[in-house]
Amino acid sequence: MNISITKNTAPAKKPENAEYGFGKIFTDHMFIMEYDADQGGWHDARIVPFQNLSLHPASTVLHYGSEIFEGLKAYRTKTGEVQLFRPIENVRRLNRSAERMCLPTIPEDDALEILKTFVSVEYDWVPTAPGTTLYLRPFMFGNDQSLGVHSVSSVTYVVIASLASSYFKEGLNPVKIMIETEDVRAVRGGTGEAKCGGNYGASTRAGQRAAELGYSQVLWLDGVERKYIEEVGAMNVMFRIDDEIVTPALDGSILPGITRKSCVELLKSEGYTVHERLLSVDELVDAMKNGRLKEAWGCGTAAVISPIGELCYKDEVYVINNGEIGEVSQHLYDTLTGIQRGDVEDRFNWICPIKKG
Ligand code: PLP
Ligand code: COI
Repeated sequence: MNISITKNTAPAKKPENAEYGFGKIFTDHMFIMEYDADQGGWHDARIVPFQNLSLHPASTVLHYGSEIFEGLKAYRTKTGEVQLFRPIENVRRLNRSAERMCLPTIPEDDALEILKTFVSVEYDWVPTAPGTTLYLRPFMFGNDQSLGVHSVSSVTYVVIASLASSYFKEGLNPVKIMIETEDVRAVRGGTGEAKCGGNYGASTRAGQRAAELGYSQVLWLDGVERKYIEEVGAMNVMFRIDDEIVTPALDGSILPGITRKSCVELLKSEGYTVHERLLSVDELVDAMKNGRLKEAWGCGTAAVISPIGELCYKDEVYVINNGEIGEVSQHLYDTLTGIQRGDVEDRFNWICPIKKG
């Protein structure tokens, strides 16, 4: 595909302090292209200086939330190379989300080439300090200039990048999570397994209530019976009950996380017993009460592996593994970040090297 590149003639000064937080400092460029059904599909693929977008006030995304996004990171190895982690999985999930939201898909090869070309242009922005990365945020939205509710014919696809250190202020220290009993995030048949903005907007209220009580995020229960564990706000969850790893099965309302998939594949390859199944909150509470829950963690691109040190359910507080990082959480963190940074052998072929542009 043809991607034109216009270099930013006034590049920003890169911050010296590596405490970037998450998603606040953006790079010098962005990728953008448009889709118009009456112009034969995607057109005008270009990398341009980072800039504001201009939208017609009737744009579909502003009224009916036609929007999807992705999240992946570019990593710097200790020898200075830059690499992506399983980007094809993000491309495939982007296209599955697009199908759910009646947005156009992007041919896989093109979507991958866009990511690789964009990162090659922003190569020098990939940070070097331990625990830091360049977080890529591809997103797509409906841009029809009409207030009728219908599928869109005019769409914009953008990729931006921002510096990331730790997503949670706790870093790798265990986070406190509250099991949400009022609001629900998703139901089967809804949009839970798509990565669309509306899922996140609707979950803010519960997150805010939890934050007021000192919790980092909420753990969602299923939207029908409010009985089964689903996932956390920005990550999937895993539990070590006795010596088996249990994670909720992908039943249509949970986001199919790429970190989750990688943890499952990694653990199985090492001989761990991993069950992807229904896990009721009652079973989890029993396991917490009788000491069978050895550790719990969340996993996601932004959050990496985030040990859970405390769970609150219906005003009862359960401390997990004395509020410390568990053995399997630490092992997963070390192995995944090791592969991503080139310190651990990539025996699964997950790494995608990037050349400087
Ligand atoms: N679940 C939700 C709701 C998320 O937002 C994310 C983050 O992308 C995840 C799970 C983890 O997915 P991944 O590992 O692909 O980042
Ligand atoms: C990610 O981990 O990439 C996410 O999208 C989580 C987030 C909503 C910040």
